[in-house]
Amino acid sequence: MSESSLYLNRITKVFRSPQGDVHALRDVQLVIDPGEFLTVIGPSGCGKSTLLKIIAGLDTDYDGEVRLGERTLSKPGTDRGFVFQEHRLFPWLNVEQNIAANLSLKDPKVKKQVQELIDLVRLNGFERAYPRELSGGMSQRVAIARALLRNPEVLLLDEPFGALDAFTRAHLQEVIRDIWLTKRTTMILVTHDIDEAIVLAGRVVVMTSRPGRLHKVIPVPMPHPRNRASSVFQEVRSLLLEELEPTLHDKQKPRYANREVLPSG
Ligand SMILES: Nc1ncnc2c1ncn2[C@@H]1O[C@H](COP(=O)(O)OP(=O)(O)OP(=O)(O)O)[C@@H](O)[C@H]1O
Ligand SMILES: [Mg+2]
Repeated sequence: MSESSLYLNRITKVFRSPQGDVHALRDVQLVIDPGEFLTVIGPSGCGKSTLLKIIAGLDTDYDGEVRLGERTLSKPGTDRGFVFQEHRLFPWLNVEQNIAANLSLKDPKVKKQVQELIDLVRLNGFERAYPRELSGGMSQRVAIARALLRNPEVLLLDEPFGALDAFTRAHLQEVIRDIWLTKRTTMILVTHDIDEAIVLAGRVVVMTSRPGRLHKVIPVPMPHPRNRASSVFQEVRSLLLEELEPTLHDKQKPRYANREVLPSG
């Protein structure tokens, strides 16, 4: 269970290059409660990944401040875990070795924790399997377990299911929801899939681009598990589509995974 709020204080990021400056983020301001599940949606290039990297401490060249409780975050730390779109597993290590990363499985405490994480992501029986023997969804579950090993307060997920088929994706949404319900880790998940944003989030953040800004924060007042056919779900979806509509006219076209729910024309 996370205990600290995450504060994003006027985050501004400009990429400078000889071809010109790219204003990736401007004055991003938000407080994320301990144990909250936030999803972030917005057109391609609006700064979602840049924002996650700044929170992770992977990019420190920005204006503003990221704070976890009383602590200003200025470099990567075990208090934050990161899951990328591609799993980034080490091909020469098996499942449990990948999850343990640079901790020793000879340490009974590490071994026990790795086994608990394997249970959590439902990979029992695959402890000794190598990445080449796993499906995309299984590999991504290993990546999630690895990110959780040091019990981070905040888990950052950058389109973690973007490369998966719809069925596997729906299954992994359930896995991540159950992990959140069990551990109450603060989660921030970036997605292009409108339904995914709604099915998981306590609040959905809609971003706009050039410069990347927080456009709207939309609460999802629904208990879990969520019924996608319910009227509340449909209402939130309509609201989100309304807020996303102006972003469709951005110079760079968005790429939503869930194209069928976008307005036609
Ligand atoms: N290393 C970099 N150097 C220069 N510009 C960059 C760099 N990384 C990102 N950008 C620019 O910053 C802006 C935000 O990029 P970012 O990757 O955060 O967008 P995104 O919202 O994650 O997009 P997508 O949905 O396609 O993943 C874009 O205009 C991008 O071109
Ligand atoms: Mg991105």
